[in-house]
Amino acid sequence: MNVVILAAGMGKRMQSALPKVLHPLAGKPLLAHVIDTARTLSPAKLCVIYGHGGAAVLEHLESHKAKGGVEISAALQEPQLGTGHAVMQAMSELDESQPTLVLYGDVPLTTADTLKRLAEVAGNDKLAILTVMQENPFGLGRIVRHGGRITRIVEEKDARDEERSIKEINSGIMVAPTVLLKKWLGALTNNNAQGEYYLTDIVAQAVDDKVEVVSAHPSAGWEVLGVNSKVQLAQLERIHQGNIALGLLERGVTLADPARIDVRGELVCGRDVFIDVGCVFEGKVELADGVSVGVHSVLVNARVEAGANIKPFCHIEDAVVGPASQIGPYARLRPGTVLGEDVHVGNFVEIKNSQVAAHSKANHLAYVGDATVGSRVNIGAGAITCNYDGANKFRTVIEDDAFIGSDSQLVAPVTVGAGATLGAGTTLTRDAPAGKLTISRPKQLTIENWKRPVKVKK
Ligand code: UD1
Ligand code: CA
Repeated sequence: MNVVILAAGMGKRMQSALPKVLHPLAGKPLLAHVIDTARTLSPAKLCVIYGHGGAAVLEHLESHKAKGGVEISAALQEPQLGTGHAVMQAMSELDESQPTLVLYGDVPLTTADTLKRLAEVAGNDKLAILTVMQENPFGLGRIVRHGGRITRIVEEKDARDEERSIKEINSGIMVAPTVLLKKWLGALTNNNAQGEYYLTDIVAQAVDDKVEVVSAHPSAGWEVLGVNSKVQLAQLERIHQGNIALGLLERGVTLADPARIDVRGELVCGRDVFIDVGCVFEGKVELADGVSVGVHSVLVNARVEAGANIKPFCHIEDAVVGPASQIGPYARLRPGTVLGEDVHVGNFVEIKNSQVAAHSKANHLAYVGDATVGSRVNIGAGAITCNYDGANKFRTVIEDDAFIGSDSQLVAPVTVGAGATLGAGTTLTRDAPAGKLTISRPKQLTIENWKRPVKVKK
């Protein structure tokens, strides 16, 4: 099969500088949804028709090429003279021995199953149209049938009153034998209300050529919904998120409210995972058995191991949380953070590019950056690594069983030996030896007979 994706329209109603097909749905451009679905069909040829915002669309196609798989070609449609004219631009790219599937870059949720069914009814010699019954068909092309057989498609603007009352609409998605498609496209005229070359006019030509015109229907109406405005984009986002939430529930995940979770990527969950309201997952996130994620947490490309508890309001990105760890509330784990088993990271603690081994704790108000922290280490409130001198970054090493007193500054590069204790308020600029107390605080003294100043009367 060949696949042609129409993506040249400008999407004026989006009111945006970004081309319509690049607006994200669940964190991924509309066009990427369509390309990813098309690729699951293993097409012989895949061609994207682009026009408005050409450079940005081409750049986006490059990112797909990096993923491998079937090659994507691109054909420029300039000016945009209609859907039939758009498909025409792809003809030289296609394999004529196989049928051609036409998809829209702004209809992101069609499932591969539905497309396979459409291709099946089309076979090699029929024209197949994906149609759907719509209570409010306003603005869409209507499927005109005689004696049950499709005879033509009429656009809203060209339709007579009795045709406007038809509720079966053209999704726009169709499969056609490629040699015939080429012939039919060549014979299109733009003698219609919009002065465009309509792809839909090939239906009447097929009927004239005695080519059978058949139809298939999607499993759900949302599969053929397109995006023309921010309103429709928001509606599709909710539908898509609802589907994702349903999938999670079916796999046994407990969601406090399936209407209040956003997955913008791939979320893989083990058994007995609980996710509270308002959480956002981006990129690839893995939650192992028994993980709990608290209210309004954001996890980006993260792995959380079995039994870990992410308390409310955490931000975790490119990080690994070890089993049975306790994170938050209000903790931030930045890229390169790897926590071992039963690590406790409390409120207003930030960890970046650091490894923290089993049973260590930083429970309040700390910054741990570019550090290697051993097991059973206690990092006191307000302690920070000074990892950056304004030009370069340096590592801090804190060995097993060390105790970092509150409000200490560890000026990297520096090492705290195993079992060492830093007194509160220490500014550590040289290594702290293992097993000993190191303290940089001036000795406390009390001034005898000191008196508070009193206000002088004028
Ligand atoms: C089209 C169909 C209509 C169908 C509707 C479903 C035609 C004539 N009409 O209507 O029967 O019910 O889709 O949404 O085909 N595009 C180009 N180049 C162009 C024009 C459009 O690439 O010159 C692309 C658009 O970017 C979009 C798709 O084709 O992805 C459909 O275009 P749009 O203008 O939304 O289709 P309609 O005319 O509304
Ligand atoms: Ca239009």
